Amino acid sequence: MRTPVIAGNWKLFKTIGEAVSLVNDLTPLVAEAKGVEIVVAPVFTALSRAADAAAGSNIRLAAQDCYWEEEGAFTGEVAPKLLKDAGCSHVIIGHSERRQYFGEVDETVNKKAKAAIAAGLTAIVCVGETLAEREADATFSVIEKQIKGAFAGFSADILAKVVIAYEPVWAIGTGVVASPEQAQDMHKYIRSLIAGRYGETVADNLTILYGGSCKSSNAAELFSKPDVDGGLIGGAALDATEFHKIVQSF
Ligand code: PGA
Repeated sequence: MRTPVIAGNWKLFKTIGEAVSLVNDLTPLVAEAKGVEIVVAPVFTALSRAADAAAGSNIRLAAQDCYWEEEGAFTGEVAPKLLKDAGCSHVIIGHSERRQYFGEVDETVNKKAKAAIAAGLTAIVCVGETLAEREADATFSVIEKQIKGAFAGFSADILAKVVIAYEPVWAIGTGVVASPEQAQDMHKYIRSLIAGRYGETVADNLTILYGGSCKSSNAAELFSKPDVDGGLIGGAALDATEFHKIVQSF
């Protein structure tokens, strides 16, 4: 069956020193966490040092983005194999902030996820609707389009290296969390889309995380839903005690 994941998306926060300190603070706290994978995603510049700090612990490292080419004249980009080299096991792809501010679209999400998986990384692929889309009753069609676009051309074997994060844009960084029922509805829908294309077994094995204002006070309720397999945590992941509480609520 699927592996639950609690992942911290540190966004554009923390220097190298602060990232290493947070990993050091988290290490003893989550050392006993069983049956759940713990992932943290510092900025690119802190990845390698954070990975060194996490060595031998059960904390895994993720990058927050990658490019799809292995190397070449692509100024400013970072290839998946370089993320592996820096100590990453995961990479977040298609976060709504990248879609909103940096021109990320389903087609680039698809290329990045494919390249990341080919390099041996697990791709944490984000999908989610905006408030305007939800209010226009377009939530299901938006998610369907994002899922189809992100995984176009993926075989079941490739999809096995994917974690999906459902992150309603209206819940990210707003303090407005989706209700456990809203999250469950969407996760179930996403799993049904995968089942329709790849079959029940593949869908059952797929880890689907919830993200958007998830914190220790609401995590347990969200995680109690059958199709919610953990969380992608932003603001609440920046503090070791708070992140640990979220891990504990699993
Ligand atoms: P948030 O962010 O927990 O601060 O809402 C979640 C995310 O953007 O992944």
